[in-house]
Amino acid sequence: MNAAMTEPAAGDVRTALERSIAVLRATFRARFEAATAEPALREEKARILGKKGELTAILKQMPALEAGARRAAGELVNTLKNEVEAVFEERLRALDRGERDAELSAPAFDITLPGREPAPLGHAHPISIVRDEIVDILVSLGFAVHDGPEVETEENNFTKLGFPPDHPATDMQDSFWTTDGLLLRTHTSNIQVRAMSTHPPPMAYIAPGAVYRRDDDATHSPMFHQIECFLVDEHVSVAHLKGVLGTFAERFFGAGTPIRLRPSYFPFVEPGAEVDVGCPFCRRADGSRAGCSVCKRSGWIEILGCGMIHPVVFESCGIDPEKWSGFAFGMGVERVAIVRYGIPDIRLLFENDPRFLAQF
Ligand code: PHE
Repeated sequence: MNAAMTEPAAGDVRTALERSIAVLRATFRARFEAATAEPALREEKARILGKKGELTAILKQMPALEAGARRAAGELVNTLKNEVEAVFEERLRALDRGERDAELSAPAFDITLPGREPAPLGHAHPISIVRDEIVDILVSLGFAVHDGPEVETEENNFTKLGFPPDHPATDMQDSFWTTDGLLLRTHTSNIQVRAMSTHPPPMAYIAPGAVYRRDDDATHSPMFHQIECFLVDEHVSVAHLKGVLGTFAERFFGAGTPIRLRPSYFPFVEPGAEVDVGCPFCRRADGSRAGCSVCKRSGWIEILGCGMIHPVVFESCGIDPEKWSGFAFGMGVERVAIVRYGIPDIRLLFENDPRFLAQF
């Protein structure tokens, strides 16, 4: 067999190669121009320079050339390859520029268009929900909201309310003190002092707000909320206090909710009491209660402290205790929220876990 008969002659290869190179050189610009988007442009480049590309095919035939012709063809192919790459890069930049120009000259993006997904709607925090409901009920009974600071003097928080100097609540352990002798109020009863020291009676106020104590466990948070409620007038009696408390309990926990007053001690009231409401969780249709885990089987849940304003408080605020009398109560907002919703741990109210908050 004669090899020369099957292998093409070196001279034929050379002319064929030269022709291929010439064709490619004459056409590649137009092919890149025809690509109007980046993916098409890259495909075109792969068709020329890729592993199975046309220029690569040309390179593969080079070994068949004679040394002299190979060098010459090599130079041609290299120049062409550089040209192809340069033209490709330039076309790529031109396409980019075109896209940006199109974006810039397009009508402006309308940021006022509604989103495609409706934004999830939030709602008030359970503490705010409960606070607002309590405030609404008491405002409807005629009480006005009185605001006051959370950073308070010892005098307004303790002394004028008749706390003896050695009372355990005044102990540094229970309060947060500032370096200049003020403290974070431990209750909203400071508002009684502030209101009575600045306005003459009669008055009927509520004071919702944050209070602070050095306590932290499943049923106590170092920051929590109270609503103070107090009324000063002539001839105010325990009957008025019970009337307001009973009305509040029925409106907030439902008609027929009973209350009970248990004697208790607060330095700024006399007599003083703690108030329980009939457990709303185990109440039967006839009003009796079976006892459950929320009320610890007692049928009653404690929600607030109350009493008749102590003459000492009137005196320290410049009000004549012979002429004026009044009642006051202070309710824990978290406490009431826990009772209403059956929340097992007060800390859930402050963790802001959306899985918890979404349930309200
Ligand atoms: N200030 C009391 C407390 O924080 C509650 C209270 C208010 C009691 C008004 C009696 C009258 O525990």
